[in-house]
Amino acid sequence: SRTHHYDFFIRETNVTRLCHEKAVLAVNGQFPGPTINARKGDVVVVNVYNQGHKNITIHWHGVDQPRNPWFDGPEYITQCPIAPGSNFTYRIIFSGEEGTLWWHAHSDFDRATVHGAIVVHPKLGSSFPYPKPHKEIPVILGEWWNVDVEKLLEETKRTGGDFNISDANTINGQPGDLFPCSKDGTFRVPVERGKTYLLRVINAGLSNDMFFAVAGHTLTVVGTDGYYLKPFTTGHVMISSGQTMDLLLHAINVSANRYYMAARTFQTNTELTVNNTTATAILEYTDAPPLTAGSPEPPVLPAVDDLAAATAYTAALRSLATVDVPTHVDEHMVVTISVNVLPCKPSNGDTSSCEGPINGTRFAASLNNVSFVASPTGVDILDAYYHSIHGVYTSDFPNRPPVAFNFTEPEPATELWYTDRGRRVKVVEYGAVVEVVFQDTAILGAEPHPMHLHGFSFYVVGRGFGNFDEGKDPATYNLVDPPYQNTVSVPTGGWAAIRFRATNPGVWFMHCHFDRHTVWGMDTVFIVKNGKTPDAQMLPRPPTMPKC
Ligand code: C2O
Ligand code: CU
Repeated sequence: SRTHHYDFFIRETNVTRLCHEKAVLAVNGQFPGPTINARKGDVVVVNVYNQGHKNITIHWHGVDQPRNPWFDGPEYITQCPIAPGSNFTYRIIFSGEEGTLWWHAHSDFDRATVHGAIVVHPKLGSSFPYPKPHKEIPVILGEWWNVDVEKLLEETKRTGGDFNISDANTINGQPGDLFPCSKDGTFRVPVERGKTYLLRVINAGLSNDMFFAVAGHTLTVVGTDGYYLKPFTTGHVMISSGQTMDLLLHAINVSANRYYMAARTFQTNTELTVNNTTATAILEYTDAPPLTAGSPEPPVLPAVDDLAAATAYTAALRSLATVDVPTHVDEHMVVTISVNVLPCKPSNGDTSSCEGPINGTRFAASLNNVSFVASPTGVDILDAYYHSIHGVYTSDFPNRPPVAFNFTEPEPATELWYTDRGRRVKVVEYGAVVEVVFQDTAILGAEPHPMHLHGFSFYVVGRGFGNFDEGKDPATYNLVDPPYQNTVSVPTGGWAAIRFRATNPGVWFMHCHFDRHTVWGMDTVFIVKNGKTPDAQMLPRPPTMPKC
């Protein structure tokens, strides 16, 4: 294995989109940021210089980082932030991942513009489990706001009310031809007829799941979240916030020279205001006769709320090989996912204008009715655990079985809308097999939630609609070839069951990948204890960790 070095200079960079110029945080002046390239089993060292005006951290999304929580990145969970004017060197250890992952800021809403692709190739001497593509193309789906994301965060925390939706979805940072002042920047993919291209698609969006398609072409899905899948061919893809999809595109079309690839929001909660704009890029045959006037063909995308299309796509994901799913479960938990209300608490710096749906409340979100509050104590959770500092968190997640009610009934009683503030974590023994069943609820509207776990990939053994039934649903689990992911889309008004073996000691964040839900508290932490042997224990604390 090799070690690769990167320098990330984070600073404000002026960017113009939708006819507005604004300063955004970006890495090395690039938006999206640079791609990190590695091979399976390599180590990547990234020296991050914070030349911006605010605290920041970087997370390596989907990299398990065995025994190495120190460099995982979430602010106040595994580290104190990198202060303006200082730097911090991350050491990223790749183990089982092979495919597409990504990196992003893990502080406030900074990841809106601070993100980029991670491409993990097979080890030297081994190859993809499919014919080698002619070219590989990172395709990062994202969102653009004309307002400053710091403003957006403030608003999200203060009112928690109407989320300020993005002004455009983007492909590689560009809204594309359908938006004003955007034509010149539209991302273009030159292709040659007869060749095959690997699209490494990443959904970096802050608040949107997305459908993606290419006009005139089908896509062969070969991987997700850094692991291979049984190939299947589809007209469109649904990709949750945080997920990646590896797609083969065969450039074999002859009817036109140019085709749009397009991305649009998937959101089932029709009571929410959604960004239903379409981002486009252009697939351009370079060996075709000179382009004639006229627009490229648009692709057919499912409607914004097409739950059936999203469900069918997600259900088709299967691991390439038969996998070793643990059959005995040591820790089983059902965790409800809700959007909630909290009483306003101005004394807490929660200077709410209290625009929640019930007087004197603001919006919140929860896992099992606890709204996780970030550590205000100046100690991150990893340090608190490592140095046995008390009072930073409590080890009682989930602190009770989920409040029993019909989770998916349209109008749950208003008493059920309330949640508690806490910093409750789950501590598990090294090697324990953990099964989490995420149960969406209809409190303040059912919607899909992309649940993401740090430190582990997990098998998605089951998904279903309605209330999870302990008696019946486990019999439907796929224990043969379930997909291995780090982010699972919990279906609207339904549930998803995941399983993983806790063989990575450390402190690992778990949260909804919609940033508004993350800051509203739809989060918890898994602490995995050290095992007995030295190779089952956390690496020693690096002396370079930033101070709070
Ligand atoms: Cu992609 Cu905790 O994040
Ligand atoms: Cu969510």
